[in-house]
Amino acid sequence: MDCGKQNHGSAIMGKVTRLSWSPLLLLITLILILSFQITTRTIYPIRLMSGLSEPEVSEVVGSCVGFLREFPRREVIMSIKDFGGVGDGKTSNTDTFRRAILYMQRFGDKGGSQLNVPKGRWLTGSFNLTSNFTLFLEEGAVILGSQDPKEWPIIEPLPSYGRGRERLGGRHISLIHGNGLSNVVITGDNGTIDGQGKMWWELWWNRTLVHTRGHLVELMNSHNILISNLTFRNSPFWTIHPVYCSNVVVKDMTILAPLNAPNTDGIDPDSSTNVCIEDCYIESGDDLVAVKSGWDQYGIKMAHPSSNILVKRVAGTTPTCSGVGIGSEMSGGIFNVTIEDLHVWDSAAGVRIKTDKGRGGYISNITISNITMERVKIPIRFSRGSNDHPDEGWDRNAIPVVKGVSISNIVSLNSTKAPVLQGIKDAPFGGICMKNVTLIGLASASWHCEFISGFAKDVFPMPCPQLQNNASTSWCSYS
Ligand SMILES: *[C@@H]1O[C@H](CO)[C@@H](O)[C@H](O)[C@H]1NC(C)=O
Ligand SMILES: *[C@@H]1O[C@H](CO)[C@@H](O)[C@H](O)[C@H]1NC(C)=O
Ligand SMILES: *[C@@H]1O[C@H](CO)[C@@H](O)[C@H](O)[C@H]1NC(C)=O
Ligand SMILES: *[C@@H]1O[C@H](CO)[C@@H](O)[C@H](O)[C@H]1NC(C)=O
Ligand SMILES: *[C@@H]1O[C@H](CO)[C@@H](O)[C@H](O)[C@H]1NC(C)=O
Ligand SMILES: *[C@@H]1O[C@H](CO)[C@@H](O)[C@H](O)[C@H]1NC(C)=O
Ligand SMILES: *[C@@H]1O[C@H](CO)[C@@H](O)[C@H](O)[C@H]1NC(C)=O
Ligand SMILES: *[C@@H]1O[C@H](CO)[C@@H](O)[C@H](O)[C@H]1NC(C)=O
Ligand SMILES: *[C@@H]1O[C@H](CO)[C@@H](O)[C@H](O)[C@H]1NC(C)=O
Ligand SMILES: *[C@@H]1O[C@H](CO)[C@@H](O)[C@H](O)[C@H]1NC(C)=O
Ligand SMILES: *[C@@H]1O[C@H](CO)[C@@H](O)[C@H](O)[C@H]1NC(C)=O
Repeated sequence: MDCGKQNHGSAIMGKVTRLSWSPLLLLITLILILSFQITTRTIYPIRLMSGLSEPEVSEVVGSCVGFLREFPRREVIMSIKDFGGVGDGKTSNTDTFRRAILYMQRFGDKGGSQLNVPKGRWLTGSFNLTSNFTLFLEEGAVILGSQDPKEWPIIEPLPSYGRGRERLGGRHISLIHGNGLSNVVITGDNGTIDGQGKMWWELWWNRTLVHTRGHLVELMNSHNILISNLTFRNSPFWTIHPVYCSNVVVKDMTILAPLNAPNTDGIDPDSSTNVCIEDCYIESGDDLVAVKSGWDQYGIKMAHPSSNILVKRVAGTTPTCSGVGIGSEMSGGIFNVTIEDLHVWDSAAGVRIKTDKGRGGYISNITISNITMERVKIPIRFSRGSNDHPDEGWDRNAIPVVKGVSISNIVSLNSTKAPVLQGIKDAPFGGICMKNVTLIGLASASWHCEFISGFAKDVFPMPCPQLQNNASTSWCSYS
């Protein structure tokens, strides 16, 4: 990439729009353009902002408002069509998206830009976003992920995982990717991004996957991000993955994948802080939301926690996984997570905390309230992992600490089992606080608790004795 040339180009382009009424200057400019076309093949038309539907941060209402800084105005709005995009569902637009964003990147420090994707089916391989940028999917716009794995190039593994999550070495890049960005918005009038993940799930099922699958959207080391009002479908792997990010809002999203599609988590905040997830409907083959922070010795070494996370009004189903999961990758630490107004049905668990020996790290100050569940097998579950380590280098002495989980105002109808709360032998989970938990229609009413301690009040059916320690600790506000 030659940035010098790009900036030079934009200065000349600016002249075109300002001085087109002046014949003499127009002539000079045309000469300049003609000579310039030797290096820049195409001159794109520029549409300036004129009260067009730009998502202002002020439109973000509700609990997520404080999580974002104001976005700079987008001065330039263009359509993927301006770059020669073809929305027929067959023509590849990989190059078009990459060219469009490379071009729009030059407006990053000149007021920012917005790329509109109109109605149509826009097939593409992976492309990267830029800063001060909005990707806007109009009503009926569908971005389709390429079926050619080469269109999802291999990138470095994450340092906090040390390798690809599924396979050793590098991993496929996400369909839509960003690294080191700020002020990015991905929104629209409920347009769709469809990863067409079936091919990837089959590679996983038939054990011919060579590198770890890509996410639908991954943002790394990025700040002030809004993802809203769209439908994401059929991600090859976890759907939305903010990692090493801060100030991220995911709002009013519909996230769908077949209920048997492997590892198609909805939203996975990973080593990220100030993340707000609100008003999302998710159905998929894995956790609707999973909070993470790196894997064993790699996550411990990086020590980048996930913190200040709010998950509110998420609804959905996942038959083999949980509404909200914390872990199992939590080696950088996870603290100050609030989960509220969750509605989960026909799922394996409502809320699940998962860790293991070798993880190290900690999980603390987790507040869970107002969860409604129907036909969820195990409504509340804490568990050890299943010997899932990146390599033989994991530290047998790295025991995770789990301390301070408060759970209140829970109603569960027709669960199979009472809560299963399993801590770790050498490091019992402490400060597990439950209040106003009602589990009706249980097939089995006896709690299964080991290596945990805490406090319970107004819990039905009668909790395990480990929770009947009536001396509440200082963090536990119920007493
Ligand atoms: C984004 O816009 C802000 C405010 O206009 C500006 O300060 C910042 O430098 C821009 N970022 C980039 C990468 O251009
Ligand atoms: C996108 O960004 C990644 C770094 O995160 C880089 O490896 C890759 O080459 C970039 N892709 C393109 C098409 O620029
Ligand atoms: C969200 O999408 C719907 C459906 O296209 C549209 O009517 C609405 O205005 C959008 N909302 C926002 C906040 O953009
Ligand atoms: C967006 O589209 C999805 C899928 O068609 C639909 O279920 C959802 O209700 C729509 N959301 C809005 C805000 O229109
Ligand atoms: C595995 O699935 C992929 C993707 O659908 C397919 O191309 C390949 O032929 C399958 N391989 C085997 C051994 O079934
Ligand atoms: C905990 O996270 C919330 C966001 O959910 C934030 O508002 C609050 O300030 C955080 N608390 C501390 C002590 O950082
Ligand atoms: C613990 O979580 C609660 C609820 O989000 C928050 O009010 C409090 O500030 C948090 N404390 C710390 C130390 O993170
Ligand atoms: C509890 O959550 C549900 C959504 O699952 C919401 O409709 C309801 O208003 C919430 N109740 C309270 C008291 O916040
Ligand atoms: C108990 O929780 C339920 C469900 O959230 C709620 O409707 C009810 O008001 C709560 N009761 C008390 C005493 O807080
Ligand atoms: C719970 O089970 C009972 C008895 O089988 C049934 O009548 C009721 O409809 C079920 N409720 C839900 C919410 O599944
Ligand atoms: C805790 O309180 C309950 C009800 O007040 C009582 O039945 C129970 O014996 C107490 N448990 C302990 C360990 O003191």
